[in-house]
Amino acid sequence: MLSERLNNAYNAQIKNELNSAYIYLGMAAYFDSHNLPGFAHWMRAQAEEEMEHGMKFYHFVFERGGNVALAALDEPSVQYESPMAAFKAAYAHEQFISESINHLYRLAEEEHDYASRPLLHWFIEEQVEEEANARGIVEQLEMVAGSKTGIFMLDRQLAKRE
Ligand SMILES: [Fe+2]
Ligand SMILES: [Fe+2]
Repeated sequence: MLSERLNNAYNAQIKNELNSAYIYLGMAAYFDSHNLPGFAHWMRAQAEEEMEHGMKFYHFVFERGGNVALAALDEPSVQYESPMAAFKAAYAHEQFISESINHLYRLAEEEHDYASRPLLHWFIEEQVEEEANARGIVEQLEMVAGSKTGIFMLDRQLAKRE
């Protein structure tokens, strides 16, 4: 059984993950509106992954005999100054999410909730990948330095994400 404190923290994380999906969908809309279908595809795939993350926490709360509460989502931006600005925001957001997972982990340890460990270990590893992916694209955008040809080629590459 989850403690009330941990249950509340898991519910906050469900919101964080669904909010991430909404943020990435906003970024997808930005790229779609600028005729960059590869970037948009990458962001839509990212949004779907975040939905799955939210559902992992959702199922876990019920499995542990807790109660799910759903907070309102924040309105995401659908406009960015550049592809670089969007990906820098995505990277910063993933760093924020990593911190929220770390916070959950500390809380679960404080509450001696050892059943949380496997789930949170999965998310700790996932966040290493999430940060590396976003940072990797920021670095590639730095390489092309706003060149239209470079952005076009990167768009073709990001279209291949499964
Ligand atoms: Fe996530
Ligand atoms: Fe993420």
